[in-house]
Amino acid sequence: MQSITETTQVEKENKPAIDKRLKALNVAMKRNHYRQDALIEILHKAQESFGYLEPEILEHIARQLKLPLSRVYGVATFYHLFSLKPSGVHSCVICLGTACYVKGGGKIISAIEEELGIHAGETTSDKQVSLMTARCIGACGIAPAVVFDGTVTGKQEPEKVLQQIKNWQSDP
Ligand code: FES
Repeated sequence: MQSITETTQVEKENKPAIDKRLKALNVAMKRNHYRQDALIEILHKAQESFGYLEPEILEHIARQLKLPLSRVYGVATFYHLFSLKPSGVHSCVICLGTACYVKGGGKIISAIEEELGIHAGETTSDKQVSLMTARCIGACGIAPAVVFDGTVTGKQEPEKVLQQIKNWQSDP
């Protein structure tokens, strides 16, 4: 078991301002005895502390829980409640799981990325919309699915998604 005072890369690169948050995260991992099955709880704590899950934090968690980084990324990107970048006012999560992808999810994300000029995981420059993707949100029956501000919608099309985003941007 590693001590919370052990110097990690995150801590080395840390600015003093985030020390408290990192400490809170380390305490949460210790309290959970660095159990790998506490990953979701730990990610919650990290997001609560940092506002979003930056790559260094995910690496830190992976090291502490002795999990492959790919597993930590997998869980962090699977659940739409986790954000890998600072969030905009609104969030648009496009499901790219197999069912959604083959029914047009891939076309939706391409169209949105092109129109907004950002990639999945990023936020528009007006800070109105964060664009994210998920692997399967459990709504395959209504694929392709898109989650607008936490509301799951189905049978989506690029035009409809773009319209929703434009509505957000024109009426913040
Ligand atoms: S693949 Fe999109 S909801 Fe399952």
